[in-house]
Amino acid sequence: MATILLLSGPNLNLLGEREPHFYGTTTLDDLVGIARETAAKLGHELEHVQSNHEGALIDAIHDARGRCGAIVFNAGAFSHYAFALADALAMFEGAKVEVHLSNPYARERWRHRSVISPVVDGTITGLKATGYRLAIEAAAALLPEVSDREAGIPPSSEPGPERPGAKRQERNEEKK
Ligand code: DQA
Repeated sequence: MATILLLSGPNLNLLGEREPHFYGTTTLDDLVGIARETAAKLGHELEHVQSNHEGALIDAIHDARGRCGAIVFNAGAFSHYAFALADALAMFEGAKVEVHLSNPYARERWRHRSVISPVVDGTITGLKATGYRLAIEAAAALLPEVSDREAGIPPSSEPGPERPGAKRQERNEEKK
């Protein structure tokens, strides 16, 4: 079992009443519920942190190091310019999935760049609440690969057994 940290950036606390044409009517509590239920079905635990302050989000990422297996992050508008958040995420060794409720590429130009995208494993955009379920599933699916990454084992192109640390364990067994 791993702990997945769902991290929510600025203004997401107002979901439900905030620009529903972009973000839907789902509240942040609803999204956390969906994420928690999805994680539980896959045998994982979910923690959630929301903050409107960049420093608090950085602290939450630091606190997840060595403790959480994955971070699923909607950094809100910070996604587009907060380099300190990207630096903090780069130091997190677990699985990293970026999620956006809306499709930033279909909106204003300044939303087309995410400084978070280059330091995550993958990004899900535009699928509203469904994106949160998929993001948790993606993070859980990445856990075995990440466990190998932490152990310094390069990714293989062959389909491998789907359990955490599988390749590392296989190689340890080969050494015996
Ligand atoms: C968002 C997209 C961002 O551009 C915006 O600033 C947000 C929410 C999304 O989930 O679609 O706050 O991250």
